[in-house]
Amino acid sequence: VRLKPLVILDEQHATDKVTNVTPAILSKIPMRLHNQTDHPLSILKTIIQSHYDDFSHFSSLSPLVTPFKNFDELSFPKDHPGRSVTDSYYINKDLMLRTHTSAHEVQVFGEKQDKWLLTADVYRRDEIDRSHYPVFHQMEGARLFDATAAGMKEVEEDNARLEGILKQSNIVIEDIPHISEANPVQPTHNPAHAELVAKNLKLSLNSLILRLFGSGERSSPLRVRWIEAYFPFTSPSFEVEVFYGGRWLEILGSGVVLQSTLDKANVQGKIGWAFGLGLERIAMVLFSIPDIRLFWSQDERFLSQFKSGEITTFKPYSKFPACFKDLSFWNPEGSAPLHDNDFCDVVRDVAGDLVEDVKLIDSFVHPKTNRSSSCYRINYRSMDRQVGFTREQE
Ligand code: PHE
Repeated sequence: VRLKPLVILDEQHATDKVTNVTPAILSKIPMRLHNQTDHPLSILKTIIQSHYDDFSHFSSLSPLVTPFKNFDELSFPKDHPGRSVTDSYYINKDLMLRTHTSAHEVQVFGEKQDKWLLTADVYRRDEIDRSHYPVFHQMEGARLFDATAAGMKEVEEDNARLEGILKQSNIVIEDIPHISEANPVQPTHNPAHAELVAKNLKLSLNSLILRLFGSGERSSPLRVRWIEAYFPFTSPSFEVEVFYGGRWLEILGSGVVLQSTLDKANVQGKIGWAFGLGLERIAMVLFSIPDIRLFWSQDERFLSQFKSGEITTFKPYSKFPACFKDLSFWNPEGSAPLHDNDFCDVVRDVAGDLVEDVKLIDSFVHPKTNRSSSCYRINYRSMDRQVGFTREQE
């Protein structure tokens, strides 16, 4: 069989047996919400950019990347689950939709950029609920220093400046060691340099978090906690959580950039950090946006509530009743049950943004025939209008 080529951003691309992008996903590619003035994602992007005012900004790189660039260049192992067709969207075996903004690290470091931010749409196959959507937005930030005595003096001065800002503010930070056995310094790094750089990363992000979450009246201090993490392309690595609205919110991943990333970019004699944060998660709490689908709304009742430079509280204009539909089916004989992500893509493709969430509520294996069946409960609830089905329409 010859498969039909796909046209994406005005270019034709061959398809093959790994192709799994759906029309619903492809329709999101031209949207670039993070570049739409007055859109909450663009407002948040601009606030972060103004915090890092001497950094370069990139925000219009194509989401089409090779798996090499998305994974191999960043030292992902060959068997990393993120590479699988159930987790990522492929145009064909040699081209995919980036799963994170880190996919551009080697490219941007290669342009001899030492301080930069990059905002982009990223794509991951996932389940459906109020805080997950297969397309979302990330911002990557990175800073490199000369790995010399002079470079480290620059880090120390910046650390002192940032400590001064944080000391005067109402923020409580639960820290962890910059380096530990489980979160090690890289063999090619001077441990003292790595310590200073990791400290700079934490101070810099703490002050960003203070800027984003710390404003307004608050009786209790803003709480931030640092957690040991693992990423294939940083060491040591950290995640950050912020206590907001009564719960811990995970907002970003970060770490000291792997030396091999810089080697691939032809950068010598430098050491630095990188972070990647999810814009929707933060925007949902800052603007009180209750459902991730709203970011894609073209409804004036949504768009007119936001103004560039301002963090305003979203006033919901409707919450229609949920409309549940249960759907059960036999899985093909002799094959494993359908992956949740495969089912959710079919749902997004057919029902679009009408669906608020999808849950697997039952699965069954026939004791005699060994065939399996799955039952999913689909919750239809539009953000903008009433949905429902009369008996005749069913
Ligand atoms: N790319 C990582 C993610 O999407 C986040 C990250 C960025 C981690 C930069 C470390 C350094 O989860």
